Amino acid sequence: MKTLETKRLLLRAFKPSDLEDFHAYAKIPGVGEKAGWLHHKSLAETQTVLDAFMKQNEVYALELKENNRVIGSLGIHQRSDDTVSKEIGYVLSKTYWGQGFMTEAVKRVVAHCFEDLEQEKLYCGHFVENKASKRIIEKVGFTFLTTRKYYSKNMDQHFDECYYVLSKADYNSTKNV
Ligand SMILES: CC(C)(COP(=O)(O)OP(=O)(O)OC[C@H]1O[C@@H](n2cnc3c(N)ncnc32)[C@H](O)[C@@H]1OP(=O)(O)O)[C@@H](O)C(=O)NCCC(=O)NCCS
Repeated sequence: MKTLETKRLLLRAFKPSDLEDFHAYAKIPGVGEKAGWLHHKSLAETQTVLDAFMKQNEVYALELKENNRVIGSLGIHQRSDDTVSKEIGYVLSKTYWGQGFMTEAVKRVVAHCFEDLEQEKLYCGHFVENKASKRIIEKVGFTFLTTRKYYSKNMDQHFDECYYVLSKADYNSTKNV
């Protein structure tokens, strides 16, 4: 995966030395749960997920340029039904919430998907009560599609999820506004 840069972040592949940083935010209750996974109970659990990220090669580590720490992740996930659309998902360390980091990262990834990866559509969802994620999705220019049921196998729980799409045409018409 190609490393991407924003003003404050490097978006790059996860590497083995990210284990401690990843665990530091993944172990905090109420962070992963907002994205459909339970907070990690051990370093070994984080290691398993980190190994999967490194193997799958579809999840970016968000590295803060200022201190070279990994403060979150952003995935560009394959959708089962086609090759010209992707679904994005993201998590940020609670320490860094409310400073515009994820909006900055999502905007960069959206540009990458449409301009480099030749995608036609991007999808993104948030659980109904997740107002911060809703706000990011709106700020980036996604259009609301539907509210649907989402089952998290990891949490063995059903959620109501608001689901959105952003087309390349809509991206092109708004990117310079
Ligand atoms: C959702 C998450 C990624 C947001 O990251 P962030 O870097 O804090 O987000 P940003 O600062 O870029 O933007 C958040 C926006 O939501 C707004 N917001 C935050 N909390 C809010 C709330 N309770 N109600 C309404 N708006 C809220 C912020 O004011 C900001 O909007 P603004 O720029 O117009 O002021 C982060 O909270 C997180 O990782 N949460 C846990 C995992 C998660 O929810 N992942 C997404 C799954 S869909």
